[in-house]
Amino acid sequence: MNDFQDWALSIQSRTESALEKLLPSAQIAPNRLHEAMRYAVLGGGKRVRALLAHATADLCGADAEKADNAAAAVELIHAYSLVHDDMPCMDDDDLRRGKPSCHKKYDDATALLVGDALQSLAFQALSQPKLFSLPERQLEMVNVLAIASGSRGMAGGQAIDLASVGQSLDQAELEHMHIHKTGALIRAAALLGAYCSETSRPEHIKAIDHYAQYIGLAFQVVDDILDAEADTATLGKTAGKDAASNKPTYVTILGLSRAKELARELYENAIRHVASFGNDAKRLVQLADYITQRGF
Ligand code: IPE
Ligand code: IPE
Ligand code: MG
Ligand code: MG
Ligand code: MG
Repeated sequence: MNDFQDWALSIQSRTESALEKLLPSAQIAPNRLHEAMRYAVLGGGKRVRALLAHATADLCGADAEKADNAAAAVELIHAYSLVHDDMPCMDDDDLRRGKPSCHKKYDDATALLVGDALQSLAFQALSQPKLFSLPERQLEMVNVLAIASGSRGMAGGQAIDLASVGQSLDQAELEHMHIHKTGALIRAAALLGAYCSETSRPEHIKAIDHYAQYIGLAFQVVDDILDAEADTATLGKTAGKDAASNKPTYVTILGLSRAKELARELYENAIRHVASFGNDAKRLVQLADYITQRGF
C-alpha cells in the first residue's frame, strides 16, 4: 500500500467513527428513521470531501481532531444530497454505493426525511458549542456550509440539473450547473478544513479556494465520464444513467476524449494554485490525482 492509500484509509476510518458518533442509534425512536439515516451514511462512499477537509486542515496546521466534525458535516450534507438525488422525483436511481438506494430499501417518505434530518445533523455537528475557540470563526464555517448547500450552491445546482433534462446546454451553462451541484460542496470541504486552523493565512485560504474550485469542477467532469464509461459493479451506482435520462453532460457536449482532456486541464490548474506550498501540499496533489485519474 502506498503512502497516499495509507493516509486515505486512516482519514476514512476516523470519518466513519465521527459519523457513527454523530448519528443517533437505531435503538432510539424514531427507530426506522434513525436506521435509514445510518444506512445512507455509514459503510460506504469514497469520503472525498472528508479527505479534502483533512488535507487542508493539515496544510494549515490544524490537528486532525479539530477537522473531524467539519469533515463529517460535509459528508452528511453530501449523503443527504445523494439520498434525494436518487429519489423517483429526481434521478430515479435504485442503486447507491453498491446497495439499494435509500428510498428502495425504505420508502420515499422515509428517504425524504432522511435527507432533511441529515442536513440538520450536519449543522448540529458544525455548530456544536465550543468546537473551536474562536466563536466568530465557527460561525463563519456554519455560514460557508449553509451557502454551499442551499439554492446558491448544491440545491440550486440540482434544480438546474433537473431543468436541463432534454436541453442542449452550451459549455458555459454546463459549467455553471456543475460548479453548483457538485463544486460548491467540494469547495466548502476544502475551506472548512482550512478554517479549522485559527492561524491560517488569508493568502493560503485563497490558494486553497482556487485549487478547490478547479478540483470541484473536475470531480463532476470525471463523474460524467465514468457514467458513460465504467460499469455498474465498479461504480456501485447505475452506469449509463445520464444518457438514459437525456441529461446534458460533459460527455454529451464535448465527447469522451475532449472531456478527458478537460479533466486534465482542470487538474493542472488546481495543482498550479497550490504549487507554492511545495511538499506541504502533497495530499492535495495526491487527491487531485485520485479525483481525476480514477477509472481511466
Ligand atoms: C457522487 O459523489 C455524486 C456527485 C456529486 C458526483 P461521490 O462520487 O463522491 O460519491 P460517494 O460519496 O463516493 O458515494
Ligand atoms: C449528483 O450528480 C450531484 C448531487 C448529488 C448533488 P449526479 O446525479 O451525477 O450524481 P450520481 O451520478 O447520481 O452519483
Ligand atoms: Mg443527479
Ligand atoms: Mg444521480
Ligand atoms: Mg453522475
